[in-house]
Amino acid sequence: MSRPAGPGSAGGRGRPSVVVTRRLPAPVEEQLQREFDACLNSSDRPLTAAELQDALRSADALLPTVTDRITADVLAAEPLRARILANFGVGFNHIDVAAARARGLVVTNTPDVLTDDTADDAIMLMLMVARRGGEGERHVRSGAWTGWRPTHMLGTRVSGKTLGLIGLGRIGRAVARRARFGFDMRIVFHDPYPPPPAVLAELGAERKDSVEGVLREGDFVSIHSPATPETHHLIGAERLAVMKATAFLINTARGDIVDEAALVAALQAQRIAGAALDVYEREPQVTPALLTMENVVLLPHLGSATQETRVAMGMRALENLKAFFAGAAPRDRVA
Ligand code: DGY
Repeated sequence: MSRPAGPGSAGGRGRPSVVVTRRLPAPVEEQLQREFDACLNSSDRPLTAAELQDALRSADALLPTVTDRITADVLAAEPLRARILANFGVGFNHIDVAAARARGLVVTNTPDVLTDDTADDAIMLMLMVARRGGEGERHVRSGAWTGWRPTHMLGTRVSGKTLGLIGLGRIGRAVARRARFGFDMRIVFHDPYPPPPAVLAELGAERKDSVEGVLREGDFVSIHSPATPETHHLIGAERLAVMKATAFLINTARGDIVDEAALVAALQAQRIAGAALDVYEREPQVTPALLTMENVVLLPHLGSATQETRVAMGMRALENLKAFFAGAAPRDRVA
C-alpha cells in the first residue's frame, strides 16, 4: 500500500496523533498530551477489534498493551493511517508482528525497565508458595487462626535449594541474581540462546541441554521465556511428570507457555507440590479448579505493576514514538 508521507512523518498534519488503548499513569498521559495529539482512554475499557481498526484508520500511531489482540484481521484495516505500534510492555505476543510488518508498520516494545520488578514478582511467588503465604493470609483473615503451635502450617524452605530457570534472558538473570545472592540457591537453567560464559560464571548458573534437565533438578522451576509458537504449552503433561513431586512451578512470563489443564491435572494428582502463577492462558479467566487449591498462589498479572515501572514503561513507549516521528530509529524496534 502506498503511503502519503515519508518515514516517521505525521503526514503534514502537525503533531502526530496517537490512540492510547488503556489508561496509563498520569505522568505518562500528561507527557503524551504535551508531545502528541493523544487520544486517551479515560474509561479504561479495552477496545474492541472494530475500535482498534478505527484507531488504525484514524491515527498515526497506536499505543497498545497486552490486553489488545492486534491480529492480522485487525491489521487488515483500510485505509491504514497508523505507521507504528508502540507497545506498552516487553512481551508482544498479542501483536501479529508478521502481519504488522507486512502492512509496513513499525513495532516497538519496552524492555529493561520492568526487569527488576518482574524478577521481584517471581521471587515473591516462590516465597509465597513455599511458605504458604496466601494460605496463611486467608487463614488469619477468615478468623480460623487459633494461635502458634509447632506443627502449624509448615511450608518448604527456599534457602539453599535448587532453582531451575526456563529462559535466562534479562528477567531470568535478574531472578537468578536474587536467588543466588539473596537465598544462596543453586541455579540450573535451559535457554537455547544462553548468555555469555562470564554472565554464567557470575551467577554460578549451570546450563542444561534440555528443559527436562532443568525440570528434573529444580526444587522450584520458574519460567522466563517469551511466548512464541515454539514455547506454546512448553510445559505440558509430559514435562510436568518429569518434575520432582516436591517441586513448585512459578510462571511470571506468559500463560500459554504452561498447559493450564495439564497443570491442574498434575496438581490434582499431586505430581508436583504446588504452583504460583501471575499469568494465565485465557486472562483474565483462570481455570476454576485452580481457585480451589490451597497449594496454588494466584496473582493478577502484577509482574511490572509498580508505580515506578509503569511510568518508566510509558515513557519508554513515548520515547519510541518520538524517535519514530523524528525520523530516527526507535530504540526498541522489534519489527
Ligand atoms: C510485559 O511487559 O510483557 C508485561 O507482562 C505486561 O504486559
